[in-house]
Amino acid sequence: APGNRFEAENATISQGVVESNHAGFTGSGFVNYTNVTGSYVEFTVNAAQAGNVPLTFRFANGTTVNRPMDITVNGVLASDELAFPGTGAWPNWTTTSMTVPLNAGANTIRATATTANGGPNLDHLAL
Ligand code: GCU
Ligand code: CA
Repeated sequence: APGNRFEAENATISQGVVESNHAGFTGSGFVNYTNVTGSYVEFTVNAAQAGNVPLTFRFANGTTVNRPMDITVNGVLASDELAFPGTGAWPNWTTTSMTVPLNAGANTIRATATTANGGPNLDHLAL
């Protein structure tokens, strides 16, 4: 099943802007992370029950340099410097997945850039 999509442009954004100038995004656009360490997008997602759930981030990185991000769930580091490698061009979108523990009820999932290049362009989170 495709699961639920949480659009980055609807999430909480710190040091990033919503844009739509590179085709192929879902929803109304994507988040262009400001190219600094610490820029982030934070999603709030509800889980019916506690348990491990696969997360899928859809992104583009039109450079040849990885743009790793720390993934925290409810403030706890769940993936240290998850790789967001180059996708060949900014309109080329791909996904990366990881499994995280969620609580029953509301959870915050934050993706924070760990290098001065900032994050990739982020389209959505699916789970
Ligand atoms: C370009 C591109 C942006 C991207 C940026 C970057 O300006 O158009 O979408 O975010 O490069 O390098 O981060
Ligand atoms: Ca950027």
